[in-house]
Amino acid sequence: MLIVYLSLTGNVRNFIKRIDMDSLEINYTNPLIEVTEDFVVIVPTYDDDITEIISIFIDYKNNMNHLIGFVGSGSLNYNDKFCFNAKDLSMKYNKPLLFTFEASGTESDVLKFKKEVKKFGITCTK
Ligand SMILES: Cc1cc2nc3c(=O)[nH]c(=O)nc-3n(C[C@H](O)[C@H](O)[C@H](O)COP(=O)(O)O)c2cc1C
Repeated sequence: MLIVYLSLTGNVRNFIKRIDMDSLEINYTNPLIEVTEDFVVIVPTYDDDITEIISIFIDYKNNMNHLIGFVGSGSLNYNDKFCFNAKDLSMKYNKPLLFTFEASGTESDVLKFKKEVKKFGITCTK
């Protein structure tokens, strides 16, 4: 089980460090990475480019067959645009939005995230 993520200003990267699970960082220059195990994608929220770059990764080779769902990181200051990239991706690929959190998340978010991921029968490898 892999956590795939994108992080432009470091919030999601910070969250990843604290959940302590196997992870793969993608960015604008390297979205074409093939994965061979099930994964969840943690998506920061900015503009439609984010949806596009994550889509390029998911559509690469057989990656979509391993996709479990999405998690969004955003800010509630954006009101109805809160975590819209993760929500759009969830609709586009018909996979669940497992969880959302603000910025790099609280300690409670870390625990909730692990609980949500476990519901999908995913065991943390670490
Ligand atoms: C320019 C800019 C635009 C943003 N737009 C949104 C938005 O539309 N919706 C939202 O929920 N968060 C928005 N955010 C908040 C970020 O998604 C949030 O800080 C996230 O944790 C960033 O993750 P990262 O540091 O890993 O890139 C925006 C932040 C910036 C700087």
